[in-house]
Amino acid sequence: MAGRIPRQFIDDLTARSDIVEVVSSRLTLKKKGKDYWGLCPFHNEKSPSFSVSSDKQFYYCFGCGASGNALSFLMEHDHLDFVEAVEALARTQGLDVPREEGIQSSASQQEDRRRKEMQAQQYRAMQLASDFYQKQLQQPEGLAGLTYLKEKRSLSEGVIQTFALGVAPDAWDALKNHLTQSGITEAQQLELGLLAQKEETGRVYDRFRNRVMFPIRNVQGQIIAFGGRVLDDSKPKYLNSPETPLFHKGQELYGLYEVRQQRGRLERLLVVEGYMDVVALAQQGIHWSVATLGTATSEDHLKRIFRLVNEVVFCFDGDNAGQQAAQRALDNVLPLMVDGRHARFLFLPQGEDPDTLVRKEGAGLFEQRVNQALPLGEFLLRHLRTGLDLNQIDGQTTLAELARPKLQRLPEGLLKKRLLISLSRLTGFEEASLLPSAQPAPQAVNRPPPATRQAIARQGQTTSPIEKLFRLLARFPELAREVPQDLDLSTLDEPLLKTFQPVLDYLQKNPGTTPQVLLAYWTGTEEGEALWQRARLALELDKSAVEMEIRDICRQLKAQQGERNNDQRYRELLHAMNERELTHEEHQELAELMKELPPSNW
Ligand code: UTP
Ligand code: MN
Repeated sequence: MAGRIPRQFIDDLTARSDIVEVVSSRLTLKKKGKDYWGLCPFHNEKSPSFSVSSDKQFYYCFGCGASGNALSFLMEHDHLDFVEAVEALARTQGLDVPREEGIQSSASQQEDRRRKEMQAQQYRAMQLASDFYQKQLQQPEGLAGLTYLKEKRSLSEGVIQTFALGVAPDAWDALKNHLTQSGITEAQQLELGLLAQKEETGRVYDRFRNRVMFPIRNVQGQIIAFGGRVLDDSKPKYLNSPETPLFHKGQELYGLYEVRQQRGRLERLLVVEGYMDVVALAQQGIHWSVATLGTATSEDHLKRIFRLVNEVVFCFDGDNAGQQAAQRALDNVLPLMVDGRHARFLFLPQGEDPDTLVRKEGAGLFEQRVNQALPLGEFLLRHLRTGLDLNQIDGQTTLAELARPKLQRLPEGLLKKRLLISLSRLTGFEEASLLPSAQPAPQAVNRPPPATRQAIARQGQTTSPIEKLFRLLARFPELAREVPQDLDLSTLDEPLLKTFQPVLDYLQKNPGTTPQVLLAYWTGTEEGEALWQRARLALELDKSAVEMEIRDICRQLKAQQGERNNDQRYRELLHAMNERELTHEEHQELAELMKELPPSNW
């Protein structure tokens, strides 16, 4: 969409907004002492352990440890990504979010305004169509549809409402007449895919007829497309809106808007195949599923998912098509598997889909299946070794060959390390020979920029204290509070300071920043690249151990700082001695310094 949000704007916005206001518009808070208290929205509790500090502008739950600032609260609570959270916060202040773009000519500003107006018209038309389909459920013309939803598919009133399901009457011009009366031209209806056109005669007619209708909404809840299902066995079973200015099939996830309307913490998303699966799961209480729209799960889909949660579970039918779809999903998810993210694969019994299964066994048993789904690593190994005899050299070599391209797609991290160990055992090859040959391909796609390569190269050598700090803070930004404010790093000979210092300054100014917010804030900058490299290196670390390590490193740096000061004072005194007579105190000081300084300074 538009360009980056200027950093200055985000800083001003967070400075201006009040976390107490943001939180209390969503939860009931009571003031006790200096802080505000309420029931934690991120875990179930009966007595309040969720505290909001107006001084520190951050929240902390003594029950589950959830913490963060206003932006991360909006992200977690409203299930928003960073940019959406900035926009939401800006709305509370009545501000428009500016974007970094070249200066716009007034002609292109006008063009922009016209495009926005046109889009608003289009959304209005889609909403009118949806309202029309919904109303038809109460009309005689819609009775067959209503009966189908309620009796054939056992859907409740509630879930029909939540998903705004409707029915398209069995007529060629019902919607067309309705929309035309509301001032939507035929051309507009055609462009939105609501009408179709006969090639030979040019006649236009309602695209969806005699079908139950599933509106597809974008993250703001605006309707961008429809899926319509026949009421019997005729073909095609589902008809979807074509690509339109509002709808790009490969990017959208059915049900994502509805998922995000739910309260409570969102831990993971289940990706299923069909509209009906999402709706049936929700009716049974599993409110965290989305469906791709008849396409494979794309990298775009997955990026969207991982902006909201760290775990995705793919659900497939037990048949061949399901296996094939799983392999495509696997290939697309590999590049996104940085540490901290999880992906799992669930295969259903033959002949079942989530809709039939959840209605048969209920949410509890279905959720158990989800919990036991195959982790990505297991699935990958199983898939690669299928049909190979690993007692034979041939089988081992084939496995190594098959594994290489997969490993190449995986980012550096624990999963890759772990898979290398397993594969090395299974194949008898050393880990290094399972990786792509050391010679850099001339046009490697994912080649990191030079700064990153240096950072990676440095990994092998002893890690500098600043490098360590950087890695630990990328993982636990809130621990920046352990770095003393008066620690002066500027005299260190450390190239990394160029990117580390601004990040540290930011963290000290914004206590309670979460890793997500930190990464999002610096996106697209040199600092962001440096952070990202370290965030993905981050190991499974225990927070209290990290806290101690940070203190240790800072003590060490502080001592070095003291040494550097001593060194400088020593030189000053020597210099002064050449110019003038030193006082008695100065002589004593010089003697002290000589005792303390390491011999190399003499
Ligand atoms: P399925 O054939 O698995 O349908 O298609 P389903 O969701 O189980 O449907 P019910 O239970 O018979 O109602 C899965 C998805 O593939 C797309 C739709 O998005 C559907 O939800 N699809 C399927 C189409 O787009 N067109 C079709 O003709 C069939
Ligand atoms: Mn089905």
